[in-house]
Amino acid sequence: MSEWQLAKRHDSFYRLAKQEGYRARSSFKLKQINEKFGVIHKGFAVVDLGCAPGGWMQVAKEIVGETGTVIGIDLKQIKPIEGTVFIQGDMTSDETVKKVLDAISTSGRKIDTVISDMSPNISGAYSMDHVRSIDLCEHALNFARKVLRPGGSFTAKVFEGEHFPEYFNNVKMSFDFVKRYAPDASRSSSSEIYVIAKRFRPGAKIPKSALCEKE
Ligand SMILES: C[S@@+](CC[C@H](N)C(=O)[O-])C[C@H]1O[C@@H](n2cnc3c(N)ncnc32)[C@H](O)[C@@H]1O
Repeated sequence: MSEWQLAKRHDSFYRLAKQEGYRARSSFKLKQINEKFGVIHKGFAVVDLGCAPGGWMQVAKEIVGETGTVIGIDLKQIKPIEGTVFIQGDMTSDETVKKVLDAISTSGRKIDTVISDMSPNISGAYSMDHVRSIDLCEHALNFARKVLRPGGSFTAKVFEGEHFPEYFNNVKMSFDFVKRYAPDASRSSSSEIYVIAKRFRPGAKIPKSALCEKE
């Protein structure tokens, strides 16, 4: 697809997002992921990592409905979304993780799915952006391992590159079903890809080398 066609496709998702009242074009990525893989259902408890400005939270809230819970976390503040919980902080810090764990225990819910659309600040140097993206994804995965109920699911955006296969194998250690997926709404030259993991297996033996250094 040419640059011009890509820009046009992105514009059409942007217009559609505006028309439908979503805060971000990325809302359609989550809709497409969910249509294909069913990671979120009515009544689910969802944690959304890197949620600003809130497009995924809007979609997640629509799907889970009144009986579900959505907790979003981001470095940046967001405008409140009715019926959801927002925590401002850095997901790579122990302090933020503790705040989120507290919010989960206050909600009295077991988490059914963790979704992460976290992106590093783009430097333009692809290999650096890739390494930073992998680092965020490792934190997201370790967090998911802490909070998911058995059988739960995990979705994360990754910038592809040399460390991707290692990350993919790391995800496979804890989930029975793991796929890579590029939703139409995201296909672009940026080579971002989503890892979709279902059927969480708690207690799998994870080698120390596959965990973040802080762990
Ligand atoms: C592409 S945006 C997410 C868009 C969002 N899914 C939506 O639909 O509105 C990526 C977000 O990841 C956040 N982010 C990056 N690193 C983070 C970190 N360490 N902790 C929390 N959020 C982070 C950024 O602040 C940014 O808002």
